[in-house]
Amino acid sequence: MTDQCVGIDLGTTYSCLAYIDEDGNPAVEKNYEQGETTPSVILFNENGEVVVGNSAKDQALMYSKDRVISAIKRSMGQDYSVTIDGNTYNPTQLSAMILRKLIGDFEENHGCTLDRAVITVPAYFGENQKDQTKTAGIIAGLKEVFLINEPTAAAIAFGYGEPKDKKERVLVYDLGGGTFDVTILEIDSGEFSTVATDGAMYLGGKDWDADLTDIILEKVAEESGTDKNVLKDDPDIMQTLAYDSETIKKRLSTAENTKGTLTVDGHKYVFNINRDEFESRSEANLLQTIDIIHRVLESKSFTMDDIDEIILVGGSSRMPQVKNAIAANFPGKDIKIYDPDQSVAKGAALYAHSLMLADLEARGEAPAIGEGDEPPRRVTIKNVLSKTFGIKAIYEDGSEKISNLIFRNETLPITKTKIYYPVEDDQSSIKVEIFESAALNNEEGHKTDTDDGNLIGDFTMDLPPGTSKDTPIEVTFLATEEGILTANVKCEDESREYKLHNDLTMTEEEISKSQSLMEKVIRSE
Ligand SMILES: Nc1ncnc2c1ncn2[C@@H]1O[C@H](COP(=O)(O)OP(=O)(O)OP(=O)(O)O)[C@@H](O)[C@H]1O
Ligand SMILES: [Mg+2]
Repeated sequence: MTDQCVGIDLGTTYSCLAYIDEDGNPAVEKNYEQGETTPSVILFNENGEVVVGNSAKDQALMYSKDRVISAIKRSMGQDYSVTIDGNTYNPTQLSAMILRKLIGDFEENHGCTLDRAVITVPAYFGENQKDQTKTAGIIAGLKEVFLINEPTAAAIAFGYGEPKDKKERVLVYDLGGGTFDVTILEIDSGEFSTVATDGAMYLGGKDWDADLTDIILEKVAEESGTDKNVLKDDPDIMQTLAYDSETIKKRLSTAENTKGTLTVDGHKYVFNINRDEFESRSEANLLQTIDIIHRVLESKSFTMDDIDEIILVGGSSRMPQVKNAIAANFPGKDIKIYDPDQSVAKGAALYAHSLMLADLEARGEAPAIGEGDEPPRRVTIKNVLSKTFGIKAIYEDGSEKISNLIFRNETLPITKTKIYYPVEDDQSSIKVEIFESAALNNEEGHKTDTDDGNLIGDFTMDLPPGTSKDTPIEVTFLATEEGILTANVKCEDESREYKLHNDLTMTEEEISKSQSLMEKVIRSE
């Protein structure tokens, strides 16, 4: 047992672990390789060992592609698996390996065993994805796992690092390796309330890498006389470029020009790249992020005048084009690049600390505060629902649409009841189909095409005998503070409660079996 307060940013491309040091400040834990962040890359070597982090990324080129797993976060919540040496792994188990590496390095350095941690998740993560992230923590050896949304964690770190004496509304722009999100939060001393959030699940540094790869391929194709598509079809070249493009991209964040090399058929080609050509090639990605900023503002009928500060986080925010584009689109706004690689993990650690204090207080064991000491700042968070939920209904014109009950960007917890009627007299049962979508609570948002939503659960309920077309059926949706949904259907004396569950949830047995996989994760090589 340890009283360490740890926060883990389990990122698509890089992960980071932070803790609260003896002075009560958040600090990032260096991994075994002395890095402050750890690549979220997993390598299965031929000795049956699992290597995670820098050495996995560095050695990736020496192994066949199917022994190296990266960006597993993008597969969370999906029915996906990989088979290596005859063993099959799901995204939860693979994420657990990354967590194990971070936790193992921390435990080794501090000579302790970690039991609990706060793990961060994107604000758009749905139920399955959150559930799997928690399970990954348990497989990695934790007894208790708390989740917090990444933008909220970043705002907590920001609020801690730059305390203000008035209520502030901030916009957190998080451009990471694999995903992009924008979140509007209100910070009022220790209270962090999410107001609205939006994003693109498949937009991040990797897309900028791909644009750079494209430029390099064109240059080398011209120089070598080999068709660009021939180069593109060569898996070795593409694997090398996946790695090199990222390195060159990072150099271009500080240098206006840089050089690189690529070997084709034993001949080494040297190429020059300048920042301008990279920026114009990747402009479409950037514009997409600006569109999403507009969209999130519009969802609450805000303009940029309603925002006090823009905070840029996520490693890709280091590209000068990001700040420039935002400044050009929103002139005169205060834009801060705030600790882009570490703020999420540090905010999670601060939240972990706050949870621990609340826990001690509840048990009457709160630490004494010396005279003149400032009491530790307490953090409370309020979230919004990340998805819109509704049920399939048949309208009078015979059309089948999703009738939405609770909407994304509404503050949690939420309870909402709507009345429906049977289609015909003496109907014996109804089938309730629950859909999630991105609809907003506005005029168009109340009815959504079934094609624009995902069916996430269904159940059938018997209706009491003798119901007529005029018998009301009350459907209530309840979303808890964590955004966990329960549906309740009531028709006269009949009622039924339904909790969402999914086929991907692992059983206790599967979890404990997976825990033994963690022994394969080695420190380094
Ligand atoms: N100096 C830099 N210039 C440009 N890009 C950078 C720089 N430093 C890091 N990056 C990029 O930032 C990305 C990683 O950022 P971060 O660690 O915030 O993402 P993540 O947490 O892995 O992803 P996500 O938040 O999408 O899950 C990578 O694409 C990396 O190449
Ligand atoms: Mg991130």
